[in-house]
Amino acid sequence: MRTTRFMLATALLASAASVPTTAAFSQMPSAGAITPSLTLKAAKAQYRPVRFEPAMPAASGTLVLPLTAEGDLATRASVLSDAERSAIQRALASAEFDYANPGSLTLRGIGNWDRIHVVGTGKDLSAAAVQKLGVMAGRALMKDKGPLVVLAGGLPAEAAAELATGMGIGEYRSDLYQAKAREAAPMAATTIVSDSAQAARALYEDRGKPLIDAMAFARDLSNEPANVVYPESFVERTRAAFAGVAGVTIEALDVPAMEKLGMGSILGSGRGSARPPRMLIVRYTGRSAPAYGPVVLAGKGITFDSGGISLKNGSGMGDMKFDMSGAASVVGAVLALARSRAPVDVVAIAALSENMPDGNAARPADVLQAMNGKTIEIISTDAEGRLVLADAVAYADAKLNPAAIVDVATLTGSIMTALGDDYAGLFSRHDPLADQLIMAGDASGDELWQMPLHPSYAEDTKSTIADIKNSGVSGAGAGAGAHFIGAFVKPETPWAHIDIAGMAWGGANDLKPAGATGYGVRLLERFVRDFQPVEKVAGK
Ligand code: BES
Ligand code: MN
Ligand code: ZN
Repeated sequence: MRTTRFMLATALLASAASVPTTAAFSQMPSAGAITPSLTLKAAKAQYRPVRFEPAMPAASGTLVLPLTAEGDLATRASVLSDAERSAIQRALASAEFDYANPGSLTLRGIGNWDRIHVVGTGKDLSAAAVQKLGVMAGRALMKDKGPLVVLAGGLPAEAAAELATGMGIGEYRSDLYQAKAREAAPMAATTIVSDSAQAARALYEDRGKPLIDAMAFARDLSNEPANVVYPESFVERTRAAFAGVAGVTIEALDVPAMEKLGMGSILGSGRGSARPPRMLIVRYTGRSAPAYGPVVLAGKGITFDSGGISLKNGSGMGDMKFDMSGAASVVGAVLALARSRAPVDVVAIAALSENMPDGNAARPADVLQAMNGKTIEIISTDAEGRLVLADAVAYADAKLNPAAIVDVATLTGSIMTALGDDYAGLFSRHDPLADQLIMAGDASGDELWQMPLHPSYAEDTKSTIADIKNSGVSGAGAGAGAHFIGAFVKPETPWAHIDIAGMAWGGANDLKPAGATGYGVRLLERFVRDFQPVEKVAGK
């Protein structure tokens, strides 16, 4: 089979007049043919069902008690008995409970409760801060599957809904292939006791639940290994997740369709893989008479990044199954918006490809041509994310009349060195757009830090044979990557690039447990909801 493929490819390349694309793909066996008959099937995700009630149910299971100050005990916990309240009071006093900073303390042996989980909220009761408290609580309480009662009396409906949303996000688990652990017994319900139960329920159902589900969708896609999630199966999963959701159209460009459009850059990136690339386009239309075009979110979707011919070294290579996290986040954000029927127009483009070494793979020094006609000299086949995004953003620019393009990518190790796992790096020629993204970052908790696009990056990426090269010479690795992608967007189109390499997967703590974090889903959901069009003038 190898010989046949090689000969076919050679014949096709010899007859090609222009910069070679990838006719070889169409001769390859379909992914189905190379899928082993043993197919993995992940256990179903689950989180606690949530109820909102004005009155407290009978004491059973775990009580969650948020407290901002000592005085809250008398009011928020007024539904408890005097004996329970004074026991809690004594325990908190003896533990010198810190009300000033977020934290928690679990008490046992009080009243009929298995546990009382006291959550010190700290002073910041913004939506992002309260949701974060919910994430921590959800995570901390998932070992025990019994019922939860959350006392949210006195908190606004928004806070009660954010708390429940955070808990659902925190209850996510990444042990996809430990079916026994996941399916042993379903988790019992969470009852949120709130004096604005009805309003809180509506907020949770309309926005919170779609967000929890979209985060789980994106995290599952990222956590799945590359023998399960590859370009075609990413597309199938997306179609399944959007089934029955109103206002959505899904299109997946296959290899011949991409060849027709001249997308030689993404095609070049995937030539070493037996899994052919796809350009997945998910459009949600939630406005009836739009005065301007959609916001386009383009995601890097490298389902596995071995480095290609510029092969990575072995240690930690498995982490590169997460290299499609940008694509998962943009599709996840659109899923959240569509399922909550948000009044917005948005398109997610997932640029899906697998970066593998092979006799057909692109080499260093090869030249590719992107959809906008620009030619690219490959310096390193490991700088592949920018190759797939070049065609994604050029497509958006040419075909979709975008009000803005935001691309999201696990693009560089260099952004991790700069910003660690606290901020994703933001690059833009349009400050009014960057400002909106930074605000959405603060509001959602997916924080951003703006980085420069120095004119020297253009010098850095000059090629002697083609229009641009895919890796710069200076030390500014993340900046050179950002500049490269920007070269495939018209100067006047508002565009921003977000490098999430440091944020896409965790392992550090309960906020970022092992596996995918879903970074970007909340950020982009917030950003698109609040989006205001910015002027289409050449950026700085
Ligand atoms: N997917 C990697 C970036 C990455 C590295 C993400 C580590 C998360 C953790 C990307 O494709 C890559 O290989 N980038 C190179 C670019 C270089 C070859 C110009 C890098 O950052 O070293
Ligand atoms: Mn790479
Ligand atoms: Zn990569």
